[in-house]
Amino acid sequence: MINAPLPRIDLDDELRNYLLEYCRLKPGETWNDPEKKHKVACLGVEDNQQIKKIFEGRKASLAIHDPPYNFIAFEKKKLEKFISWCKVWIKLTNELLDENSSLYVWLGADQNSHFQPLPQFMQMMEDSGFESKSFVTVRNQRGYGTQKNWMAIRQELLFYTKGNPKFYVEADYTDIPKILKGYYKTVNGKETDNFERSKSEFIRAGNVWVDIQQVFYRMEENVNGCFAQKPLTSIQRIVNASSAKNDLVIDFFSHSGTTLLACEQLERRCITIDIDSVFCEITIRRLEQFRNKKLTGWQNSNPFYQEILNDKKIKKYLSDKYEIKIQEEKVTS
Ligand SMILES: C[S@@+](CC[C@H](N)C(=O)[O-])C[C@H]1O[C@@H](n2cnc3c(N)ncnc32)[C@H](O)[C@@H]1O
Repeated sequence: MINAPLPRIDLDDELRNYLLEYCRLKPGETWNDPEKKHKVACLGVEDNQQIKKIFEGRKASLAIHDPPYNFIAFEKKKLEKFISWCKVWIKLTNELLDENSSLYVWLGADQNSHFQPLPQFMQMMEDSGFESKSFVTVRNQRGYGTQKNWMAIRQELLFYTKGNPKFYVEADYTDIPKILKGYYKTVNGKETDNFERSKSEFIRAGNVWVDIQQVFYRMEENVNGCFAQKPLTSIQRIVNASSAKNDLVIDFFSHSGTTLLACEQLERRCITIDIDSVFCEITIRRLEQFRNKKLTGWQNSNPFYQEILNDKKIKKYLSDKYEIKIQEEKVTS
């Protein structure tokens, strides 16, 4: 097996600059899927004229956005500035969504700083033209590891709608396992619980998702170099619940391309953007790798493995700075 991890690309400008050489998109450019299903554009969310152009008048039925959370990763903005920035891309999302559509936003809450930016974001959404629908909590095992406080293992996911979109899981059981007893009720003089009354091992759609495995290096879907990758199952759940086959889905913060990949798997079309050429390239490669090899990520390898193998300067850089040795895969007979 190949063992070729990459450090976080967002934190290492030198590595990012080396990788730029192998990226197809320069800022402002768009990759049009040769199979004519999806588009990936290297644009910032601020560039609303350019973004509208690539939609060519089409409207989407679902938006899934995962912006930088204003703490942990990526640049930290002043809170008011962050919220004004969010307002800009939420307005644009509204313009690009169909009259009956859904919007999901992944967000964080900094417990060391009055849970910013979650409450301010929620408040800002009051005047956005969207209705609040649900506040999903996804169990995020990664946490920060502290012995002085409850470990932060929650990931917030906000669900909004515009008009009256369909919600496809109402009548069905989800794939979320039933893990606790509940609903005690006396039936024919006998006290029963939910395990006895329903044969299903799964629960109906609820807004606490305890069954999502966070991505780590041993999983096939792992994309080394991408720190903020969302689990594919979480995006598949959203896509299944809030869109139909052939619908258009948008994601303004592509990163490792999880939304695009879920759309490919579930036969939706996706337009996704990222401000960074390297993450746009990773997004395109992830789709290509899935189409060519049916793999959802690189596990212990990385999206630029072949180029790095032949590029002495990157190899030396990774070895000197991180003691990462990128080597040819050993073929065992
Ligand atoms: C939290 S990550 C998204 C993770 C993604 N959901 C996944 O599963 O891989 C945020 C991404 O937003 C991008 N980004 C940051 N500022 C942006 C901006 N102004 N416009 C577009 N993308 C931006 C970053 O380059 C980063 O790749």
